[in-house]
Amino acid sequence: MKASILHGKNQDLQIESFTLPDLQPGEVRVRIKAAALNHRDVWIQQGQYAGLKYPIILGSDGAGVVESLGEKVDSSWLGKEVIINPSHNWGKGEACQGRDFKILGLPDNGCFAEYVQLGAEYLYPKPPHLTLTESAALPLAGLTAFRALFSRAGLQKGEKLLISGAGGGVAQFGLLLGVAAGAEVWVTSGSAEKIEACKALGAMGGISYKSENWSRELSQLAGGFDVILDGAGGDGFNELLKAANPGGRIVNFGGTRGKITDLTPQILFWKQLSILGSTMGSPGDFQAYLKFVESHQIRPTLDRIYPFAEINLAFRRMAAGEQMGKILVEL
Ligand SMILES: NC(=O)c1ccc[n+]([C@@H]2O[C@H](COP(=O)([O-])OP(=O)(O)OC[C@H]3O[C@@H](n4cnc5c(N)ncnc54)[C@H](OP(=O)(O)O)[C@@H]3O)[C@@H](O)[C@H]2O)c1
Repeated sequence: MKASILHGKNQDLQIESFTLPDLQPGEVRVRIKAAALNHRDVWIQQGQYAGLKYPIILGSDGAGVVESLGEKVDSSWLGKEVIINPSHNWGKGEACQGRDFKILGLPDNGCFAEYVQLGAEYLYPKPPHLTLTESAALPLAGLTAFRALFSRAGLQKGEKLLISGAGGGVAQFGLLLGVAAGAEVWVTSGSAEKIEACKALGAMGGISYKSENWSRELSQLAGGFDVILDGAGGDGFNELLKAANPGGRIVNFGGTRGKITDLTPQILFWKQLSILGSTMGSPGDFQAYLKFVESHQIRPTLDRIYPFAEINLAFRRMAAGEQMGKILVEL
């Protein structure tokens, strides 16, 4: 098969022939029709991720058709259109993942290839209201947003929700899910156009995280927030504490802006805030997420779709932070 292979740090992906190993019992082979990028893929390309190994086929998100089955796999999967849960070996607890947890696309070969092989337990039928390409955008980012908002922060209808860096893949799902859940959603972004685009998707409004003291300006505009979803971290994190309502929950899933260097404990304890961490999600989170997507007929925000041969352009777009929603490749 053809696969895009990363051979080392800071290199372009090379599209080459790759021989798939024999299917093991319980495994399936899925013909990938579309695959989506996540910032994780760019971190790995840049050598900024734990457990790097080369060569590797990246890609945590894919959708396609089941073409072959290993022994002990239910034959009804054959020919089905599926999406893939990239959250592997979660473990038994709901509170956090176990020691053997891993994400599809490193250490195991992922979806930026004609085929992916994986355990049948990670297959889910494609949501009927979405195309395969739209479905490929759903898994990693949407699961992360769903668990962070509902399983961790316990977002309720009518609460005020702030999404930071709303142009990002996870953040866009935070917006869509928050609006569908009946929250009043506001955003921050580095781009005025992206804030306008978020308003068209149901956000009340937003502000640039680049302006100094943005939290004060936003409070004047919107008041405080019960839940804040953040994937940036970094030296602006203290602004989120200021923007939170007393009793608020701030849930962080990423460190795009690096280490949190500055936290004012007086704001944290006086407002009785909770700072929560969240990563991906359990099989139960994934199932609940897909049910939510179907019942609210959610369509993911797609940024650009590249032909597979142009996958390196897709990586460059994500590295430059130009996207609004998910960047995909079609095979
Ligand atoms: N823990 C997990 O399970 C998990 C899962 C997925 C992702 N992540 C991590 O979460 C982060 C985002 O992932 P992604 O795939 O959504 O990435 P992405 O699509 O590349 O989005 C990154 C976004 O960060 C925003 N940003 C940049 N500077 C910011 C700042 N100073 N304040 C607030 N936002 C800022 C930008 O928003 P604008 O475009 O609006 O300016 C940008 O679109 C990455 O670090 C990723 O590794 C973790």
